[in-house]
Amino acid sequence: PRARTPLMAGNWKMNPKTLREAESLAALVAAADRAQGGSATRGCDVLVCPPAPFLPAVAAVLAGSSVKLGAQNVSHEPSGAFTGEMSLAQAVSVGCDFALVGHSERRELFHETDVLVGDKTRAILDAGLAPVICVGESKAQYDAGLVRDVCATQLHGALRDVSTEELERGKIVIAYEPVWAIGTGLTATPAIAQSVHAFIRGWIEDAHGPMAAAATRIQYGGSVKPDSVDELMRCPDVDGCLVGGASLNADHFSRIFGFD
Ligand code: G3P
Repeated sequence: PRARTPLMAGNWKMNPKTLREAESLAALVAAADRAQGGSATRGCDVLVCPPAPFLPAVAAVLAGSSVKLGAQNVSHEPSGAFTGEMSLAQAVSVGCDFALVGHSERRELFHETDVLVGDKTRAILDAGLAPVICVGESKAQYDAGLVRDVCATQLHGALRDVSTEELERGKIVIAYEPVWAIGTGLTATPAIAQSVHAFIRGWIEDAHGPMAAAATRIQYGGSVKPDSVDELMRCPDVDGCLVGGASLNADHFSRIFGFD
């Protein structure tokens, strides 16, 4: 038996192009979830994170399945003059249970700092949602042997205002996504994933104790495909995957959440 219920998440990023395509992808994912008996029978939770404009429609399609809904990005500001942003109250009102935070694309392309990731994480928890906090090093940082330093710095920033008790309740998900493995077809080997995941769990244990470390789900992300998922999921500290490209194909994604 696993120490934690795995969480398989699909991050659709800025895809698909139309509402109709989003609804049909969600319908296929929901049907596959029901065919597998849902999360309780399968022993694995499933989450999809569509683009913001599709959230309400996808929520409607997922009703009656066990698939959870997440936002890809949220503002930590409560309301007001923040053009182009989505608030947590808005995410809650359209049915989100989770919110991604600190994805490397947000950090790199939209200049999100560790301080901002910490603020967003706090706001996500205050809104009653579960944060999926993304951490991971670039290729240059990997080559320079900085994996642990980068992950530790990012964890420190993200968890700055998170309590031990919140971690012990299993509300926080960490996603380790080495930037060099995202969208490149280069999956980290299971050995690399396991060693970084064990480091992350050890970091949480040092900062918040063994119960917090044992309760926290740590996902792997970066070119996860149907043919790489089984081996990754055999690693004791890999508690699920955060899937980009392969989550846009319902057959591939359902094979991933129905892993052996
Ligand atoms: O958040 C998921 C992600 O960044 C991985 O994307 O396309 O490599 O599975 P992909």
